[in-house]
Parts: sequence; structure tokens; C-alpha cells
Amino acid sequence: MDWGLQNRISSIIKPQNNRALMLAVDHGYFLGPTEKLENPKKVIAPLLRYCDSLMVTRGVQRSSVPATTDTPMVLRVSGGSSIIGEDLSQEDITVSIEDAIRLNASALAMSIFVGSKYEYQTVVNLGKLVSEAEKYGLPVLAVTAVGKELGKDARYLSLACRVAAEQGAHIVKTYYCDNFEKVVQSCPVPIIVAGGKKIPERDALQLTFNAIKSGAVGVDMGRNIWQSEHPVSMIKAVRAIVHSNQNVDQAFKLYKKLVGEESKSKKRKPSKNKSNKPNQNKPNTSTKNKSNKPN
Ligand code: 5RP
Repeated sequence: MDWGLQNRISSIIKPQNNRALMLAVDHGYFLGPTEKLENPKKVIAPLLRYCDSLMVTRGVQRSSVPATTDTPMVLRVSGGSSIIGEDLSQEDITVSIEDAIRLNASALAMSIFVGSKYEYQTVVNLGKLVSEAEKYGLPVLAVTAVGKELGKDARYLSLACRVAAEQGAHIVKTYYCDNFEKVVQSCPVPIIVAGGKKIPERDALQLTFNAIKSGAVGVDMGRNIWQSEHPVSMIKAVRAIVHSNQNVDQAFKLYKKLVGEESKSKKRKPSKNKSNKPNQNKPNTSTKNKSNKPN
């Protein structure tokens, strides 16, 4: 593997423990202003230092992520359909490699829709994207998107993940399911698990734990973090499982402790900035200590 490709993958899947915590904020590319992600800048700012990488579209990266960050960007480069359109699976590549390089992407991400009407188009696009991206040492993360009509079982997900890996995807993102070990074992490249729709915090921590126990390198979680009432406490708890080998009870205890501390400090210091708008003139202290990511 070429140095650049390996280096970029290492910035996403940490070589110390072969684990990854990716924060997904790319939902708007087909969902529009998703609940609690209406203002991506506000959502991303307090969370950025707790994720290993951010999965994002170019529009949100340019408008809502500080260019001073040292968090690697996993850039979504596919799209073309929306939730109200005819068929969500009709996606194409919408971002050029040149633009991805301008954006200093650490990896490119795109969806494939195995078993759907546009299976052929999306799988061929993946193969072509890998060929192009590898010229520049850019890894490709393939998302095995699941349409309404397709089950999220181990049989289907093993097929979709394997198809992605066979096309040369360097990392595959998929959904957790029963017998997930089967999905991991038959996929020759690292698997990262999406969080899926919002569920209670303890259940999302359980999903994280189960996914890792079954062999996933980590999670690419969105809604279960930023749709939580306490996104920072939640990402810290998820991080405790991914990077500190905590079990579900320990991580949930940490979550509750952090929530308690959060509400105590809110009571002590009522917010000065009542409109809750970020102050453009002040440095963002939450991302100031850039290289000081927690373990
Ligand atoms: C949408 C995506 C999302 O990034 C992915 O679903 C992860 O987010 P969530 O944890 O909210 O499911 O790829 O196609």
C-alpha cells in the first residue's frame, strides 16, 4: 500500500488500537435539514474534538467546519436524490477528485445500493472512484445503503459489504445486525458501523459495544449523538467504548455522570450569550487545543 494511502487510513482508523470513531453529519445531502442538524456549524463545533474523523459533505465542510481543525475529513462525494424524489438509490459521483484534494479530504465516501434499481450504476461508480482516488492515495469508504425494501440481515449485509470490498473500497460502512460476525468475517477490509435512527442512549452504547465485539473497527455515528439531549456526554461515552474498552454499564454510567455535571454547571453559570449564536469574533476555545484529542 502506498504511503499516502496508508497514512490517510491511519488517520481514520487509529493504528494504536485499530479503532475508529467517526462522527456522521452528512445526512442533509438527501434529507435536507434533518432534525437537530438544522445548523451544522453549531452541532459540529462542540463535538469535533471528540471524534477521530468527521463524515461530511463539501457544502457543510466549507460552511460549517473551521479550516483550522486537525480532525480528518471523510468527504461524501455521492448524491443526486432526495427523500422526496423518485428513487433514493439513484446516486452519482457529485464531487471531483480535484475538489476533494482542495478540501484536504482524508478519504472519500459514497453509497452503493446493492439489490436496488440502481445497483449497477452505484457499484460501477464505486469501482471507478477507487481507480481515480488511488492515483492520489485517497482511500474510499463505501456505504452499504439500505432501501426500505431490503432487509438489514447478515445475509444481505454480507453480500453488500463484500461487493463493496471486491470493488476495492478500503473501508466499508454498514449497519449492525444479528450474527454481525458473519458480515465482518466475510469482508476482507475494515468495517465501521452506522448508528442508525435515534434510540435510547444505553441502546446506542450497546450497539457500539456489540459492533466492536463482533469485529467492527468502530462506529460512524450521527443521529444517536447529535439527536441526543446531551451530544457531548454521548460522544464521550461512545468514545469510552471505542477507545478505552469500557463496557456498556461503564459507558452509560459515564454518560449519566457527565449529564449530571453538565446540568450542575449550567445552573452555576447561566449562559451570557442568550441567543446561543456563535460569536464570530472570538476564537472557538472548544477546538483550540487541536492536537489534544482525548483518548
Ligand atoms: C447516510 C449516512 C450516514 O452518515 C449514516 O447513516 C450514519 O449516520 P447515523 O448514525 O445517523 O445512521 O451515510 O447515508
